Amino acid sequence: MKERLKDLEKGLIGELALVDNKKDLESFKVKALGRKSELQQIMKSIGSLGPEEKRETGILVNGLKSGLQKKIDDLESRLNEQEKQRSISAESVDVSLPGRHIRLGALHPVTIVLDRVRDIFRPLGYDVVTGPEIEHDFYNFEALNIPPEHPARDMQDTFYIHDSVVLRTHTSPIQIRTMLKAKPPVRILAPGRVYRSDYDISHTPMFHQVEGLFVDRGVRFSDLKGTLLYFARNMFGEETNIRLRPSYFPFTEPSAEVDVTCVMCRGKGCRLCKDTGWIEILGCGMVHPNVFGHVGYPDDITGFAFGMGIERIAMLKYRISDLRMFFENDVRFLEQFI
Ligand code: DAH
Repeated sequence: MKERLKDLEKGLIGELALVDNKKDLESFKVKALGRKSELQQIMKSIGSLGPEEKRETGILVNGLKSGLQKKIDDLESRLNEQEKQRSISAESVDVSLPGRHIRLGALHPVTIVLDRVRDIFRPLGYDVVTGPEIEHDFYNFEALNIPPEHPARDMQDTFYIHDSVVLRTHTSPIQIRTMLKAKPPVRILAPGRVYRSDYDISHTPMFHQVEGLFVDRGVRFSDLKGTLLYFARNMFGEETNIRLRPSYFPFTEPSAEVDVTCVMCRGKGCRLCKDTGWIEILGCGMVHPNVFGHVGYPDDITGFAFGMGIERIAMLKYRISDLRMFFENDVRFLEQFI
């Protein structure tokens, strides 16, 4: 019996040494340890042996079984590892292949500049508010001290929807809507689309403005000037200066137009600034008492307002020469701004 077991062990170990894949290993397991294996036959016959031989054979069979099982387990984990390595190398990336191009979207320059204006005014405590694009005559004109027949209505080529309903021509009506709802102090920034019947290299029928309004007791013209200088330096760079020229808007008194140091020549004089060294960026002034009258604010309230075109700021910041580019949606144009 001993001899038989020895031969069996030798034969099985020899066979196992030739196994080099998992399929063969499975058949080997069945053959070596399965129900019909020689080892099982031997185990079944142990019962008919004498007690001494039974014990010895039992020990041998168990030794053979566990030795074989260990060899099988070792081989199995080696084969598993090999299989893993094979699949890793099959899936590996060829770093010399050209990459797949992912097309990233980009923010529109109007969005970028609007975000920037918001960020500049946020630390000063300005809230962002919006208003309707279809606006009543009262908010767009009348409450802003532009009565019917007032020549200032000619300054803006209005799109009329009905006699008294227009596409808003500026963001200033948001001043009125806000003041009718809130008591001073009021500090708002009001961005939005505005509409005028105009189309050429520097005019489009729709464009964006942002309005600023600061109303409280004791607000002075010097506060306006300081605020605008702070804005201009944050938007166009620390070395920027501003100058205020007297102007006229019906809803402010006094009114001014604000220039910044030319973004192209930095004040030396060039084609962009027509050799003046200055570029106009916005209109502003102290809120007209008639406007406060329309919203029912008391006499001791003062305030300043300003309004600017977002595309205009973007054109200066990014040196864009044709306003119409903003609305043609050519991705080659739109991808360039960060
Ligand atoms: N609403 C004016 C326009 O569209 C811009 C403006 C000027 C707004 C002076 C203001 C201001 O708030 O004070 O041309």
